[in-house]
Formats: sequence, C-alpha cells, structure tokens
Amino acid sequence: MTNPQPQTAPGTDPRWTEVDQYFADTIAPADDVLTATLADSVAAGLPEIAVAPNQGKLLQLLALTQGARRILEIGTLGGYSTIWLARALPADGRLVTLEYDPAHADVARANIARAGLDQLVEVRTGAALDTLPLLAAEDAGPFDLVFIDADKVNNPRYVEWALKLSRPGTLIIVDNVVRGGRITAPAPGDPAVTGTRELFELVAREPRLVATAVQTVGTKGYDGLLLARVTD
Ligand code: SAH
Ligand code: DHB
Ligand code: MG
Repeated sequence: MTNPQPQTAPGTDPRWTEVDQYFADTIAPADDVLTATLADSVAAGLPEIAVAPNQGKLLQLLALTQGARRILEIGTLGGYSTIWLARALPADGRLVTLEYDPAHADVARANIARAGLDQLVEVRTGAALDTLPLLAAEDAGPFDLVFIDADKVNNPRYVEWALKLSRPGTLIIVDNVVRGGRITAPAPGDPAVTGTRELFELVAREPRLVATAVQTVGTKGYDGLLLARVTD
C-alpha cells in the first residue's frame, strides 16, 4: 500500500521528501495497520512526530539482526515505531514501551491491539525515570535492543538505564540527536540540545559502549540517530 503523503518538516528540501517517499513506497510499504495507526494518532490529536516509514523499517531490521527477543522502547506516542519493532519479535518475544502521557498510551494500546501485537507488547504509563527503576526491580531485562525516543533532556539518564537493563551485545538506539544541526549550536534555554550533548559526552567516556551517530534527511527534516552496542 502507498504510504500516506508525509508532511514537510521545516527546512526540508523537497527532494528529501520525494526520495523518502520513493524508498518507503518501493521497499517499506505501509499496510492497513500502519496506515490506521498514523490516521488514528492524528485523529486523537497526537503530534506527527513518529519515525518515518523507512526509519521504522530500519528499527525492524536492526531488531531482526539482533535476533531480539526482548525490546525496550522509551517514548511510545501512538505506537507506530512500537509496531515496526514488535513485528521483528518471535511469538514468545516481549516489548515493553514507556509513555508519560496516558492519552498517548491509550491510542497506542488500541493501535497495538489492532496490529495483533497486544500479547507481545506492554505499554506502561508514567514518566520513564519512574518506570525504569520498577522494570529493573522486577528483573525485566536484559533487553536485546533499546530504542530511546522520549523527552530529549533525559537522554543521558535513559542511556544509563539502558545499560543497567542490558547484556553484552545489546543495541541502544537514540532518535533525534541532530535536530536540524542545533546539536553543535546549542542555544541557551534549549535543554533538549544540552541533554543530547551530555549524552554524547557520557557515551564518549563509557567503556561499555561502542558507538557512532549518523545524520539523516527525509520527511522528518534534518536529524540523526545514535547507535551504541554494549561491549562483550
Ligand atoms: N517512538 C514514537 C515517537 C515518540 S514521540 C514513534 O516513533 O512512533 C515522544 C513520546 O515520548 C511522546 O509520546 C511523549 O509523550 C513521550 N514522553 C515525553 N516525556 C516522557 C517521559 N518523561 N517518560 C516517558 N515518555 C515521555
Ligand atoms: C520531536 C520528537 C521526536 O521524537 C521526533 O522524532 C521529532 C520531533 C519533537 O519533540 O519535536
Ligand atoms: Mg523521535
């Protein structure tokens, strides 16, 4: 199925959107479940900040490459990235996704149920810094893949928790580490950028992580991902 026409993010070259649309339509096509997930998220008034289709597919591929059986996601929104990730799980796999906003969590639960993934996926409501210690206390880890995509100011703390809930070989992915290039031009009063720079400093001095970051352009504008593997 053809992916919905993406909105054009500010500062976006029209070619980025056209090429993303081409990639998505050729090799990361939407299906009824993904289309309905985005449509119902918009209808419920959620912000249109889910990963792009080709990025969702990238998450799925990375989860498959990991042979992931347990996945942790921080920042659910309407469950779009959750569905891409959970589709990589085996029948006895598990994905826990953490969401602060109860209204977002409700939309996500309905989308995940329609996707037939509610046996594998648990949406936990609450601030992630409150729910992560509970996950650790109940020995929910180790997770094979952690996708961090919530409030950017807490990214350093989320990577610390991801490490606590990891095993050697766990893949940690952090979304939105470029933000139109503001990463290298932090404005005073932009805590998201300050948090992301703190994240890079933490990763740089953390011997348990081998990491890189890549810039991306596309329907979501100019942004990027950090990828880190917990060392063996
Ligand atoms: N991963 C989603 C997009 C997530 S958007 C996708 O690609 O489809 C970021 C989400 O993080 C929002 O739903 C927001 O409510 C949530 N969030 C913000 N602060 C949070 C916090 N402290 N704890 C958990 N979730 C948070
Ligand atoms: C925003 C958040 C995201 O996770 C994203 O991928 C894009 C934008 C935001 O808060 O603006
Ligand atoms: Mg994001």
